[in-house]
Amino acid sequence: MVDYAVDGNIAVLSVNNPPVNALSHRVREGLLNGIEKAARDDKVKAVIIIGKGRTFPSGADITEFDKPVREPWLTVVGRAIEASRKPVISALHGAALGGGLEIALFSHYRIASKKGSVGFPEVALGILPGAEGTVRLPRVTGPAVAMEMISSGRRVGAQEALKFGILDKVVEGDLLKEAKLFAESVKDKPLDGRRLKYVKPKGAESVDAIYEGALAEVKKRFKGFNAPVNCLMSVKGAVKLPYEESCALERQLFTELMSGGQSRAQRYAFFAERAATKWRLPCGASAANTKPSEITSTGVIGAGTMGSGIAICLIRVGIPVVMVERDEKMLQKGMRTISDILGESVRRKRMTSERRTECLRLLKGAASLEGLKDVDVVIEAVFENLALKKEIFAKLDKICKPSAILCSNTSTLDIDQIASATSRPDKVMGAHFFSPAYIMRLLENIYGAKTSPQTVATIMQLGKTIGKIPVLVKTCHGFVGNRMNQKFSSEAFFMLEEGALPQDIDQVLEDFGMPMGPFKVGDLAGLDIGWNIRQEVAKKLGVSLTLETKYLNAERYSSLADRLYEMGRHGRKTGKGWYRYEKPMAVKAYPDADVTEMINSHAKAIGLTRRTVSAQEIIERSTYAAINEGFKILEQGVAEKPEDIDVIWLYGFGFPRYRGGPMFYASQVGLSRVYERICHYHKTLPYSSYWVPSDLLRRLASYTTQLPMDQWTKFTDCKL
Ligand code: 3HC
Ligand code: NAI
Repeated sequence: MVDYAVDGNIAVLSVNNPPVNALSHRVREGLLNGIEKAARDDKVKAVIIIGKGRTFPSGADITEFDKPVREPWLTVVGRAIEASRKPVISALHGAALGGGLEIALFSHYRIASKKGSVGFPEVALGILPGAEGTVRLPRVTGPAVAMEMISSGRRVGAQEALKFGILDKVVEGDLLKEAKLFAESVKDKPLDGRRLKYVKPKGAESVDAIYEGALAEVKKRFKGFNAPVNCLMSVKGAVKLPYEESCALERQLFTELMSGGQSRAQRYAFFAERAATKWRLPCGASAANTKPSEITSTGVIGAGTMGSGIAICLIRVGIPVVMVERDEKMLQKGMRTISDILGESVRRKRMTSERRTECLRLLKGAASLEGLKDVDVVIEAVFENLALKKEIFAKLDKICKPSAILCSNTSTLDIDQIASATSRPDKVMGAHFFSPAYIMRLLENIYGAKTSPQTVATIMQLGKTIGKIPVLVKTCHGFVGNRMNQKFSSEAFFMLEEGALPQDIDQVLEDFGMPMGPFKVGDLAGLDIGWNIRQEVAKKLGVSLTLETKYLNAERYSSLADRLYEMGRHGRKTGKGWYRYEKPMAVKAYPDADVTEMINSHAKAIGLTRRTVSAQEIIERSTYAAINEGFKILEQGVAEKPEDIDVIWLYGFGFPRYRGGPMFYASQVGLSRVYERICHYHKTLPYSSYWVPSDLLRRLASYTTQLPMDQWTKFTDCKL
């Protein structure tokens, strides 16, 4: 795991633990042995620590976190490095993160390749750099930079790290060769001043003010997360306290985080995200055994909200797009939208204007599907109408080259039905982006009964190429995200009828950690969208909706949103929706007495006596309705594993990462408790068939000792 070699009078310790050289037990042991061996070898005058392969150690081995700690601890290794009488130089490349950067900060010198980066991403795992990272970084950067870097987890490029004092030198070319030259130049120099333990931290006089400013910032930016606050406290301690006391404080704050639920959830999310990309089809094909095809050109149909966003995702990474609209006027409108969004990125300094020009050069327009005859992949984003989509896919089948993959961005429709309009159902799948497509990281990819593994591999790979988190699911109405979210949101309307107000429900769910409550989301999206969908559904069922409609298709129905719509309150864009706004498009939402009055009279009209709906009930009914559906989704094989569902919620709906996702959250609440409450709501809330408890959940809840999540799907086939 750590190779030891001596070249002249320089010992080189090469960490060899692919893929990211994580500081596992054997690596720590190897480093300690290497340092001790170099100390004993009279020939050796300096030591280099370097990573083999793609990176310097990127941190502690996270897979060891829940196992008993095995010595030597990272701090023991680090302190041995620092105590060495021979200069130790850490030579960094790739991503020197977390424990890796801590090892570097124990070393007497740090050099890095130009393309390298450093950072403390521990905060994203719900912890802090616990091997003296919070104590050492401020000794080189001062407290302001250390607080910002550690509490945000931001990765810093080599040049910036040099400017901050984290690095002593940035080099080009062969890193080991440069490290040896550097070692030669320092091997006889005294180590006074190079051991950070003895360096007095700068900025002690202003640390309180810096801390207060940073605290206000993290409370806003990382609302609800515990780790960023502990990170700041630890850096403050490092600056104010004697060295050993600050290390003890760091350990205490680290242990507090590590043993808490947030870190457990965030560590789960780290691995869930990676597990989700390892897709597998029921036929046995998987990411590991299927090669994606190359994509060099794409087409997008429909330059509306979604199509324009999808085109941006593609051109931004250098993939040419032919954009098709139904006529020249709509095409020009869509092209202008894309140009304006990229212009805004330039204005916000997220992109240079040269880059914007390069991106726009990759975008071509066409007012006919004929323009797509040569592309490798088409993504359709026209109106949500099955007949229209089938008509377009039938035409595409004739126009596009036989190898072309045809995707739909439908948010609900059956991929098999869309594929049936073509003679190539093996090359048809769903690629469901979330709005705004150029910002949201989730890509819910949907396979149909006939989609080929190679098509899946190609679109999953495309997702990665454009910087998304692609998750694969099987076709069904609403797939995973919208299918669960529909239950989550329906409960909000029913709770309004029963006694809550929009602001109550939004507040409770925002305190739970959702970025926005469902009523604020509704106002933002526009309440006309939901109204149109409901009218469509009613039309298809051959019924007409009235303001007293209580049931639709034998399911409970709330017409509150229809009442609101008919009052002309269409959301933020009209300055009124579930909330009042100072003017159309204003952001700040105010509770509105007219809405309260409308809700009260609606409840009366449908014969409901309003009551107090507790915060606990709001959380349970929203999340458990979604969770119950999640278990049905697992049971039906729509999602292959619970991690896939959680990643969809983390990246598609902003479910709080410190709760891991709805399925992980259920595992923490306890499946028997969740099942029992779902049974309760099933009994007390009739005409909502989604409350029928999932059979899989019932079986899992019957175990006295809860089964780990990786075993949940093993029970989807058997009937008890
Ligand atoms: N421990 C264990 N496994 C790790 C790991 C770690 N620190 N970092 C990455 N891996 C694994 C991943 O799970 C993945 O495994 P898989 O192939 O089986 O799915 C594999 O390494 C490759 O990882 P990525 O797919 O993420 O590779 P990328 O090239 O995209 O990214 C990276 C590389 C930037 C290093 C990214 O993996 C990363 O951010 N890793 C986490 C870094 C981190 O959080 N470090 C701090 C750890 S905590 C710590 O150091 C505590 C200390 O302060 C005491
Ligand atoms: P939109 O109404 O903003 O855009 C649709 C565009 O398609 C319009 O510009 C229209 O002119 C164009 N179009 C219609 N028929 C066409 C044809 N025959 N040829 C070429 N262009 C045609 O709709 P939006 O919101 O972009 O939705 C598109 C699809 O994406 C729908 O299937 C929707 O369900 C789905 N979706 C929407 C999300 C959203 O939040 N808006 C989120 C995820 C998916």
